[in-house]
Amino acid sequence: MKILEDRIRQDGTILPGNVLKVDNFLNHQVDPQLMDQLGAEFARQFADAGITKVLTVESSGIAPAVMAALHLGVPMIFARKHKSLTLTDHLYTAKVYSYTKQVNNDISIDRRFLDPDDKVLIIDDFLANGQAVQGLLDIAESANIKVAGVGVVIEKRFQKGHQLVTDAGIPLVALASIAAFENGTVTFAQD
Ligand code: G4P
Ligand code: NA
Ligand code: NA
Repeated sequence: MKILEDRIRQDGTILPGNVLKVDNFLNHQVDPQLMDQLGAEFARQFADAGITKVLTVESSGIAPAVMAALHLGVPMIFARKHKSLTLTDHLYTAKVYSYTKQVNNDISIDRRFLDPDDKVLIIDDFLANGQAVQGLLDIAESANIKVAGVGVVIEKRFQKGHQLVTDAGIPLVALASIAAFENGTVTFAQD
């Protein structure tokens, strides 16, 4: 998506460890007009997928997810993060390891927000190693619901997450796909 690639070129900075800092429009300050355009594009690409709910993980997935849900006309649910969980009877839970932060989190969604006939779209801000998406796939499996697709604002194609999703046979839409960081500039994947 050209408008997003332009914004990344303009406002993104590359930090050590192949981390793209985009905290002036996505990860701290949020540009609602851009989020609206991203949400519309996710909705356009998944318009015929029969989606009943959008799932994400707090916190940075919420802005794009709620806009996708708005344009699809369905609710958005964000999984909550916990250091560790007790009393989980009323929850679907999964473990998520963050390579970037080197911490383990449990994520959870209350059982009453997922129904067996749901078909969900998973949305996140970044697809890097794919652990957050894997956690939501684990929850979807526990809840016995269908996953229509995964939509991410920015994927780092050279990390494991892209392969993880496509190997699972799940349609993946990345609105910006980064092939590499070279000499302090972002190279986008061509297809
Ligand atoms: P994953 O999200 O694909 O599992 O990747 P990973 O474990 O590597 O990432 C851990 C956290 O770091 C995630 O945020 C992820 O969105 C974020 N992240 C990964 N790569 C980048 C990057 O290049 N730039 C930025 N800005 N973030 C990146 P999180 O822990 O879920 O936190 P939150 O921001 O959603 O609260
Ligand atoms: Na995230
Ligand atoms: Na993040």
